[in-house]
Amino acid sequence: MKARIAPSILSADFARLSDEIGTLVAGGADMIHLDIMDGRFVPNITFGEKMIDTVRKLTSLPLDVHMMVEEPERYFESFAGAGASGMTIHVEAAPHLQRQLARIRELGCKAGTALNPGTSLATVREVTTDIDLLLVMTVNPGFGGQEFIPASTDKVARARQLLDDTHSGAALEVDGGIARDTIASVWRAGADTFVAGHAIFGSDDPAAEIKALRDICLETV
Ligand code: DX5
Ligand code: ZN
Repeated sequence: MKARIAPSILSADFARLSDEIGTLVAGGADMIHLDIMDGRFVPNITFGEKMIDTVRKLTSLPLDVHMMVEEPERYFESFAGAGASGMTIHVEAAPHLQRQLARIRELGCKAGTALNPGTSLATVREVTTDIDLLLVMTVNPGFGGQEFIPASTDKVARARQLLDDTHSGAALEVDGGIARDTIASVWRAGADTFVAGHAIFGSDDPAAEIKALRDICLETV
């Protein structure tokens, strides 16, 4: 299994966005993670379609769009049109989850679903073959730079088991507080895709940090 690193541009310096994306590409990022927040599902407001469109013009890397929004289906078409490669919706905001995931795939994007720390894995049990990605949040969403919740490691292990048991080919992503001191535990538990914002952009050398995170996984069996 390969460890994929998905830097979150939430922690980037938007005044230098083009340089920041260039650094991530040079550093070997596997995809770019975009945190869309609507001020309703989470308290914070970040950015939307325009940012996806802007980043799309700056790189050909896959754009992993994490939608922390109510009624996510209102944005599927515009985000897909702007260049999203995958869209991940929260089960807490998706009463018609299976239909919403099918719509994302219909638009030619990878369909993902995300779980807040307090949300049970049972909520995604019936859709494991409708998804290309399962995101287990390792912080409560809303802000970058928060501390990893240690109990998440066990949840990731159970998520891995669920995906394997149901023969789902979905990627297993973790997001929140992922850094040098936390990545090994979730990698060992079976995660394969790692979002990191503060760890990468808070470092003096973001490109080296991407490599350091991946190397920790390579060295951890
Ligand atoms: C949290 C976001 C994350 C966040 C990760 O609400 O979904 O993607 O930007 O940032 P760090 O790595 O700083 O915890
Ligand atoms: Zn995110």
